[in-house]
Amino acid sequence: MANSPLIMEANLGCGGASLALVADGPHKAATRLTSGKTMIGRLNHLAIAVPDLEAAADQYRNALGAKVGEPQDEPDHGVTVVFIELPNTKIELLYPLGENSPITSFLEKNPAGGMHHVCYEVDDIIHARDHLVETGARVLGNGEPKIGAHGKPVLFLHPKDFNGCLVELEQV
Ligand code: CO
Repeated sequence: MANSPLIMEANLGCGGASLALVADGPHKAATRLTSGKTMIGRLNHLAIAVPDLEAAADQYRNALGAKVGEPQDEPDHGVTVVFIELPNTKIELLYPLGENSPITSFLEKNPAGGMHHVCYEVDDIIHARDHLVETGARVLGNGEPKIGAHGKPVLFLHPKDFNGCLVELEQV
């Protein structure tokens, strides 16, 4: 009974909505629901705020054996970042840069460092933003994409609207 295909189908129904995903081809970052709305694609990176950038980079390089990049200053975002390449995604180590860095207050609350945001890829950041705003999500800043650490447009969504997790969207 528990393995009845009918029950499995019902359990997969996601509140009765159709789960059918329309493949757009491997070059596309995202899939589309049958409603036609663009949804998130791959996890681009996880970002971790760190109290000591050199120590954290060394730990990823030596203890974890990861491929660790050079520190990059991102004055527009008030951070210095080190990117770590993993086989399936990236880790972004964040350290405060400048007077009004968003990472300063984060590290005051989390002195040992901590998970700062997740970054999901989207095909069309304006479409994704407008759809998310329709659902009630708040976009941080002036609501317009900025150029992120990879030279691509990014937006941040309010953590209180995403289960306490700051979400970055990157158009790829
Ligand atoms: Co990021």
